[in-house]
Amino acid sequence: MCHTLMGCAGGTFGLKLKSRQPDISSLRRMASETLVEVNDLNFSYGERPLLRGINMTMHRGKVIAIMGGSGSGKTTLLRLIGGAIVPTSGHVKVAGEVVHKLNRDDLFQLRRKMSMLFQFGALFTDLSVFDNVAFQIREHTDLPESMVRDLVLMKLQAVGLRGAHDLMPAQLSGGMARRVALARSIALDPLLIMYDEPFTGLDPISLTVIGNLVRRLTDALGMTSIVVTHDVQESLKIVDYVYFISDGVIAAHGTPDEVRESVAPFVHQFVHGEEDGPVTFHYPAKAYASDLKLETGLA
Ligand SMILES: Nc1ncnc2c1ncn2[C@@H]1O[C@H](COP(=O)(O)OP(=O)(O)O)[C@@H](O)[C@H]1O
Ligand SMILES: [Mg+2]
Repeated sequence: MCHTLMGCAGGTFGLKLKSRQPDISSLRRMASETLVEVNDLNFSYGERPLLRGINMTMHRGKVIAIMGGSGSGKTTLLRLIGGAIVPTSGHVKVAGEVVHKLNRDDLFQLRRKMSMLFQFGALFTDLSVFDNVAFQIREHTDLPESMVRDLVLMKLQAVGLRGAHDLMPAQLSGGMARRVALARSIALDPLLIMYDEPFTGLDPISLTVIGNLVRRLTDALGMTSIVVTHDVQESLKIVDYVYFISDGVIAAHGTPDEVRESVAPFVHQFVHGEEDGPVTFHYPAKAYASDLKLETGLA
């Protein structure tokens, strides 16, 4: 099943510069570079195929959303991109490297350039906001403490929380805690950030703040951001491209405008939050009458 928005042959998209920045040639070049390539990727947990023939291309400087129902394999796909698990066949390339072919040291080096925020990874509760953000920098570099301080304050400034550096996590609202996690994730200037359901549990205002921050940081730092989310309306405002996963395949993909206008039943159901459509409300079951033993007259 392939409801085409851009043509399903491989998920490639041409150079479409919807520049939110001044039209600088280096930005243009950067945006045309591919950072993540998923090629004919298959993955099973045991016997059961979960992802089948997945193809995606993600460019630098872009925000890409991956959407799909619960259990459709979105988190698994992020783990495959991050090299936490190995594909059954096919491969993922990040910055030109086939992730599952890297040796331990090279994978470690590559992982330093990727940040993964799974359910917005919890902060260390007995470390201050400052120390939470400093943690990775101290762990991975030998920078003098004065430089660590400058870097941490710069990252906190980027998420609007420089003034909160002395607070403890318990003193933060849910939205602030996520912004600190975001500052922590950009501490080492990653090439790629993967967010697993960054909007879950946030009030509408915090949700917009986090969405806009993801967009702004991606633009300012020239990173690539992958956002796994159920929040269609919020993510359509901030992303450059959307992939829908259903039944283990890319069911549709396209720009936010293409997605909003799509008449493909699956996309329409998802975008408009309809209860029934290609994704059914009922889990597959025996005929109701047979479950109720109506045909034997025992009901
Ligand atoms: N480690 C695992 N072993 C076996 N099955 C798993 C494992 N992790 C996830 N699954 C199953 O794979 C499916 C997809 O999981 P997941 O990638 O977490 O989906 P999503 O993030 O889209 O909700 C689910 O049915 C889940 O139960
Ligand atoms: Mg998940």
